Amino acid sequence: MNTVNIFADSRVKIGRIEPALFGAFVEHLGRCVYTGIYEPGHPAADEDGFRTDVLRLVKGLNIPLVRYPGGNFVSGYNWLDGIGPKADRPTRLDLAWKTTESNQFGLDEFVKWCAKAQTSPMMAVNLGTGTPQDAASLVEYCNHPGGSYYSDLRKANGAADPYGIKTWCLGNEMDGPWQICGMSAQDYADKALAAAKMMRYVDPSIKLVACGSSGMEMPSFPEWDRAVLDTLYEEVDYISMHRYYWQEGGSDADFFASYRDMNEFIQMIKAASDYIRAKHRSKKVMPISFDEWNVWYQNQQGRADWSTEPHILEDNYSLKDALVFAGMMNTLINNCDRVKIACLAQLVNVIAPIFTEKSGGSFKQSTYYPFQFMANHAKGNAVSHIIVCEAMDAKQGAVNSVSSSISFDEGSGELAVFLVNYNDAAAALTMELRGFGDLKPLESAEMSGKLDARNSFEAPDAVAPYACGAPVVKGQNVSAELAPLSYTMFRFGGKK
Ligand code: AHR
Repeated sequence: MNTVNIFADSRVKIGRIEPALFGAFVEHLGRCVYTGIYEPGHPAADEDGFRTDVLRLVKGLNIPLVRYPGGNFVSGYNWLDGIGPKADRPTRLDLAWKTTESNQFGLDEFVKWCAKAQTSPMMAVNLGTGTPQDAASLVEYCNHPGGSYYSDLRKANGAADPYGIKTWCLGNEMDGPWQICGMSAQDYADKALAAAKMMRYVDPSIKLVACGSSGMEMPSFPEWDRAVLDTLYEEVDYISMHRYYWQEGGSDADFFASYRDMNEFIQMIKAASDYIRAKHRSKKVMPISFDEWNVWYQNQQGRADWSTEPHILEDNYSLKDALVFAGMMNTLINNCDRVKIACLAQLVNVIAPIFTEKSGGSFKQSTYYPFQFMANHAKGNAVSHIIVCEAMDAKQGAVNSVSSSISFDEGSGELAVFLVNYNDAAAALTMELRGFGDLKPLESAEMSGKLDARNSFEAPDAVAPYACGAPVVKGQNVSAELAPLSYTMFRFGGKK
């Protein structure tokens, strides 16, 4: 049996875990909106056409914010098409995904859906075909109290009170050649600066996210981030990161080590923004909005055929994918001193933890559970810790075969430990956990089994967590066993 030793002290904190670290993403793509969150006529649809079975599953994830409406979609989207009487809304071709967009769901529906899902919107503005004026008008529509053209239009459309949307993305992946009107770093920075100014003239309280590199493989990385931040450093509140992993050839260890690769990417973006901080003699440390991340089999992606609810990007996740996914979540938690927002991309049907059938049911994918555990229980501060375990031999080098994160909420006294054992052998775990009060075991849950097991309508619980044996606690020393190829959460009651 392998051994895993962890040492942590409550006084050595990484940083506060912002609830926004557990955000998600809804794009007009495939069946995320249509037949996902919105399906009038579905037996479970409410008076607004929102699927209540999906709302219930979304609420279980405890998501504080949802990015909308794209993604690549936003770079060709005119938000005015999606407001007002539904019968008058135009049908448009969405060039990003080769879909026909009915515009039956738009901004006002999304804000209403967010309220029902107990979450809040994070909006992206179109900096592809859109102009700074379009972006400012959108802020006016959403956040201005009234007495102007767009704020009165919102009122006329049924929303008397301003939406007060706080966080805004200045475009999406504008470094990508696939992006509608993708551009050079300097062209983007100049356009984003103009948009930022106008949006802030309308509402000075908003927070802005600049587009960072959409991947480490981009030829423009990290020069893009340097150039964009050189222009925008004092004007924006976050730099964005996006990252997806999938297995295409390569060993399991290569795929499992994605959590380490993601960490590398974060360190490089930190370095690029810290260089600009030094250059500008700025006091501000630039936070990261990791506003798209997931496992995504990009080799199987496809654009649609101008249909309205195309089955595209509908990955069905295995236990193996969930283990990689959970490692990525550990990386986000372990970098929470810099990563203040993160959005799981996406929420329903499209590379998503929730899957639906048109006119039919819905089920939780394997990735639903690690997200649910962490979003509900990783509270307070992330705790720095030392982990000593077997290494796995991956293309990234020798990488710990166990990924871990620890959170401690001083208010409630609750301590949570999240572990992914990427080894196909069980491991004897010992933890020395200093200064966390009474380590009374509260909950111990695990996911393991066949790596290729997947949930489906026929077998919705093929991959699901189960209660595992409580750890043995002796003072500040804890011991337990980790199952082979498993995800485990231990929660302790702390001092209360
Ligand atoms: O989430 C799917 C797509 O991935 C988004 O539209 C885009 O921003 C990214 O490339």
